[in-house]
Amino acid sequence: MLVAFGSAKGAPGVTTTARVMASVWPAEVVLVDADPAGGDVSLLARTPDRTALDPERGLLSLAADARRGLVQGGVGEHLQQIEGGLDVLCGVSTPEQMTGIASVWPALAGELATVRGTDVIVDCGRVAASSPVLPVALSADVLVLVARPRLESFAHLRERLRWLAHLQDTTARVPAVGVVLVADDRDKRSLSDLGQLLAHERLPATVLGQVALDEKAADVVAGRLERPIVRSLLVRSVRQLVEPVAALAASRGAVRRPA
Ligand SMILES: Nc1ncnc2c1ncn2[C@@H]1O[C@H](COP(=O)(O)OP(=O)(O)OP(=O)(O)O)[C@@H](O)[C@H]1O
Ligand SMILES: [Mg+2]
Repeated sequence: MLVAFGSAKGAPGVTTTARVMASVWPAEVVLVDADPAGGDVSLLARTPDRTALDPERGLLSLAADARRGLVQGGVGEHLQQIEGGLDVLCGVSTPEQMTGIASVWPALAGELATVRGTDVIVDCGRVAASSPVLPVALSADVLVLVARPRLESFAHLRERLRWLAHLQDTTARVPAVGVVLVADDRDKRSLSDLGQLLAHERLPATVLGQVALDEKAADVVAGRLERPIVRSLLVRSVRQLVEPVAALAASRGAVRRPA
């Protein structure tokens, strides 16, 4: 199962949500940092020995293999383990590096969609026609867009969903699309406002739920703070999203158009 996370605009919490989701995913999973603007995981995460990750080992080394046609060996040798035991495929350091490997993304997308024995969660950063990692977002089983309950965030989200709906009409393979809101736990209205907006505009996306706004826990995820977060609002809220995300991914057959 390939689960892609992305945003329409801004920095709503894609990396944080994807990382927490990977850490609570109930099956074998690999986290891929594919943000074209430059990955954050290799900067923020540490190995189990608390040393820095090797930024050359990950997407860059996998792309080099892909160019030489060697990718059939799988992604395994390009993964690094981070504290907590999660296996990650580190991203690029600069947008220019991502442009440099743009030509292999269609091949890598196929590879990531069919990794044996593990699910794959990918941080795609901003999702747009110009994104080099669009082939990954589109070959996912589910694309989860992360948004905040703000006027401009909803407006940009709506535009992304219109564009995705258009792609669904014109492209053979499209993922099921879901939306999660990063919002205050006490905010009980925004999610239904969003649902109404999508229904009113007949946008083909499923509102999956809410990720709790939890600054302290988000700081821990980003390595700015140390404390246990297993029982934090953030982790508990993301845990509750696992089932709806997996269910939407499993429904992908229903929205896949004939090739
Ligand atoms: N659930 C949350 N509660 C509180 N703060 C959060 C939450 N999720 C993310 N943040 C904070 O918001 C900021 C952006 O988060 P993050 O890097 O995850 O977003 P992003 O969408 O991946 O951004 P970018 O587009 O820059 O990659 C960070 O400071 C992060 O700690
Ligand atoms: Mg990010």
